[in-house]
Amino acid sequence: METSARIFLAGAGPGSADLLTVGLARLLARADIVLHDSLIGPDVLALARPGAELVDVGKRCGGKAHPQAEICRLLVEAGQSGALVLRLKGGDPMIFGRATEEMEALRAAGLDFEVVPGITAAAAAAAALAASLTKRDVSRAVHFLAAHGSEGGLPPHDWAALAAAGGTLAVYMGVRTLPMLAEKLMAAGMAPDMPAAAVENVSLPAQRIWRATLRTLPAILAGAAPSGPVLLLIGAALA
Ligand SMILES: C[S@@+](CC[C@H](N)C(=O)[O-])C[C@H]1O[C@@H](n2cnc3c(N)ncnc32)[C@H](O)[C@@H]1O
Repeated sequence: METSARIFLAGAGPGSADLLTVGLARLLARADIVLHDSLIGPDVLALARPGAELVDVGKRCGGKAHPQAEICRLLVEAGQSGALVLRLKGGDPMIFGRATEEMEALRAAGLDFEVVPGITAAAAAAAALAASLTKRDVSRAVHFLAAHGSEGGLPPHDWAALAAAGGTLAVYMGVRTLPMLAEKLMAAGMAPDMPAAAVENVSLPAQRIWRATLRTLPAILAGAAPSGPVLLLIGAALA
């Protein structure tokens, strides 16, 4: 990577080290300090330079860990030390990754940084399902939805617009709120037999897949009680 930056906000993909970019693997081999989310697996961290300082900043979604302000403070402090700093996030840093707060903190401190994209969970889940997120004349849009907001529950999305748009919904952080989300979509006119799928721990050995419909997926997932991160996909393209 041709750059003078010393601070990188990078996406490590959904878990498997096979899904890292070559650029990120090179950065891992050089970084002095790696500030990583809890979801970053041991296979990825094993690529860090021996002797690098690995700090779990514990940002597991929905979990209690370092508050975001504390992560920003640690990142700025690491950056100001002059070390080569890698802030490693799951998936892509620009999708539900709180990258905005961290970029603002770095800018406010006058620190240069670069962003390294990663494979987001929705793309990896589509690959695991061998199902395209888009389909000619059937699904012309993909909506990335957070199903858990700062309010602590399902955020107030425009359900009627989503149901009418006819695209694929890629739902992050949706296990707990899936029953309500499914109800909202069906009440807004989405067909109960709309194909829906869930992928837990995508790309990892513990990956599990459930294929169902909008109506049946909530009960299936409740019965399976997944403990790992789960990505939900809903839409006609999955048929
Ligand atoms: C805070 S969001 C981070 C998303 C991440 N930046 C991305 O681009 O994938 C965490 C959510 O991403 C999804 N996710 C992340 N890794 C996953 C995985 N390995 N398998 C399934 N879903 C995953 C889950 O919905 C999880 O609740």
